Amino acid sequence: MKRTDLIIATVVLVVAVITGLTLWNLNSQTRHIAKSDADILIGGSFTLVNQDGKTVTEKDFKGKPMLVYFGYTFCPDVCPTELQVMASALDQLGEAGSDIQPVLISIDPDRDKPEVIKEYIGNFHERLIGLTGSPEQIAAVAKLYRVYYSKVADKGGDANSYTMDHSSIVYLMDKNGNFIKHFNYGTSPENMAKGIKEALDR
Ligand code: NI
Repeated sequence: MKRTDLIIATVVLVVAVITGLTLWNLNSQTRHIAKSDADILIGGSFTLVNQDGKTVTEKDFKGKPMLVYFGYTFCPDVCPTELQVMASALDQLGEAGSDIQPVLISIDPDRDKPEVIKEYIGNFHERLIGLTGSPEQIAAVAKLYRVYYSKVADKGGDANSYTMDHSSIVYLMDKNGNFIKHFNYGTSPENMAKGIKEALDR
């Protein structure tokens, strides 16, 4: 092999390796992006109790997309704000969102008995339903949705005035109960409505 041929062969090899690595890197980045939301395992089977004291499971929601939020009625600010955002987003969607079932799942089963939830949800949206259950049922559904919650004792020592520390995320599930996307706390009603519409039109 001539010296120039060796140089050309080396250059070709180096270019091929760099191109290969770049393509491989781009490909893995694309895969990473695609993995962002819909591939994450969220949701699943649950057994809970609705605001009328009736036992319900995920099967009762088949055929309707769900907008799910975990919170509690005693919450001073975060939950009412987020439920207001959900209600406002649904109102903005109008007919396009008329299928969507908004759901509040309590992470405070000790205080949120069905009748308490029933009175509370009336403040937000006419289609909003409220689910509660035994502490075990709530723990199970929270785990499925990767929701964090924890009791925080009242500083004054009043056993009934505890608050709940909890994650504040709105989940959009499709009509088969599969997770589509989530909205973080602070999302505006406009952006939530837009995000829901885009996701459901897809
Ligand atoms: Ni809250």
